[in-house]
Amino acid sequence: MKIIEVSDYKQMSVKAAQHLIGKVRSADSVTLGLATGGTPKGLYGELIEDHHVNGTSYKCVNSFNLDEYIGLSKEDPNSYFQYMCTNLFSHIDISLENTHIPSGMAVNLQEECNRYENLIEQAGGIDLQVLGIGENGHIGFNEPGTSFQSGTHLVDLADSTREANARYFSSIDEVPSQAITMGISTIMKSREILLLVSGSSKQEAMKKLLENEVTESFPASILRNHHNVTIIADKDALTLV
Ligand code: PGA
Repeated sequence: MKIIEVSDYKQMSVKAAQHLIGKVRSADSVTLGLATGGTPKGLYGELIEDHHVNGTSYKCVNSFNLDEYIGLSKEDPNSYFQYMCTNLFSHIDISLENTHIPSGMAVNLQEECNRYENLIEQAGGIDLQVLGIGENGHIGFNEPGTSFQSGTHLVDLADSTREANARYFSSIDEVPSQAITMGISTIMKSREILLLVSGSSKQEAMKKLLENEVTESFPASILRNHHNVTIIADKDALTLV
């Protein structure tokens, strides 16, 4: 794993944007894996600014998001579909029909998981997957204990994950208790992974990621077995390393 240390969240976002823009500009078509949460918001802001200033086009981009909450419609302000529209898709020239997010409203959730996994495969897999990391080591919504062999699947969210995400909802009771997430094996099939980490709340997670063994009780540890991972982390996240 290659580690790039940067001073702060802004620099993490700028570096990540440069990397992603380089990828988009250098190929006729690119399939991106995208993440939600607080971490990639700055990256998306940088992409939007670059799109306006330098004209980088996303017409050749397909995207697959990591996950979506169960029970939130596309219109729900807390759905990841809305997050992506608000923070990125509505501000660049990507075609919405080339963007993909699991449906948390599917009648048959297992079918939806299979459909999503197949869709990624049919698209030829993911060229560059953007990831954040949870304090408990989750990637996507793959909580500790998730099989490394897992494909896209339905998950029960850990209490700590619901607490961490409660800041976006009016109360913790509103935070969905389940989600659909790309699995660990789905993520590991990506040809390249860009892991973004910022802030002191991720110190312990970074220490475990870099120093502990590869174990399903700390899902992000599997990234040590991937041949093309770049971590862009700020100083606060690397204090214990
Ligand atoms: P965050 O979440 O970006 O909001 O810190 C990261 C994650 O849970 O994967």
